[in-house]
Amino acid sequence: MTALPKHIAIIMDGNGRWATEKGLARSEGHLAGAKTVELVIKECLRHKIPHLSLYAFSTENWNRPKEEVSYLFELFCQFVEKELPLMQEEGIRFSMIGDKTELPENAQISLQNAVERTKNGGSLELTLALNYSGTSEILHAVRQSAAQILTDGETLHTIQDLAHNSEALAAYLASLFDKQHYTEQNLRNNLYLPSLPDPDLIIRTSGELRLSNFYLLQAAYAEFYFTDTYWPDFSAQDFEKALIAYQNRKRRFGKIDA
Ligand code: FPP
Repeated sequence: MTALPKHIAIIMDGNGRWATEKGLARSEGHLAGAKTVELVIKECLRHKIPHLSLYAFSTENWNRPKEEVSYLFELFCQFVEKELPLMQEEGIRFSMIGDKTELPENAQISLQNAVERTKNGGSLELTLALNYSGTSEILHAVRQSAAQILTDGETLHTIQDLAHNSEALAAYLASLFDKQHYTEQNLRNNLYLPSLPDPDLIIRTSGELRLSNFYLLQAAYAEFYFTDTYWPDFSAQDFEKALIAYQNRKRRFGKIDA
């Protein structure tokens, strides 16, 4: 039997449909979804799962009506502020992935405050993906790693030395990004949270069978668990079912059984 996952990542889907089917406003679905977030955090603590990532707002979600977007950010901030005492008490370390610079300013302040105040937490790392997409994370990592390499002191020195020999300069610049010098590690070191291990288990609710630009690189060997349950109805029993399904998987990581 496979050991419990160390990192669970969840695509929390179906808030809107849950609400619509009940004749409620979509915002009611998101509010009910926040209760499920609370429940899943408690379940992770109970099972001693050290990393939980929640896909809360994708780069594509900006295309929703303005009112829904502002409601969601208010909800995220209220949630994090309300949960702060529990996070501190339970040793939860709150972190974020995504392009923070584009978030509403009050959300940036409130969420960053929670990051600072919980930075020594050691029981569960709770990562909220906000204004996140796997594509933009990879682009961010490529840009940042290339800039690091090109602006390194030794690199600049060599460029100056070769300034009058364009052929040698071109060969040198290309060599900086060849297989020996530019590796997967260069890219990984520049992901939003390089210390976060890849997810072992990715759960998606509401019957949709897609990754929707979540953890594109990190999902390479993740196990997937899909359920038809809408996120607001996702219960401790559903969480347990996902864990059991995961424990029954054989993870070979491209190898063959020993
Ligand atoms: C997807 O459901 C959900 C979202 C885009 C937002 C996720 C937000 C929450 C779960 C609210 C609480 C979160 C935190 C972190 C406090 P959808 O609106 O796309 O549902 P639909 O596909 O049925 O329309």
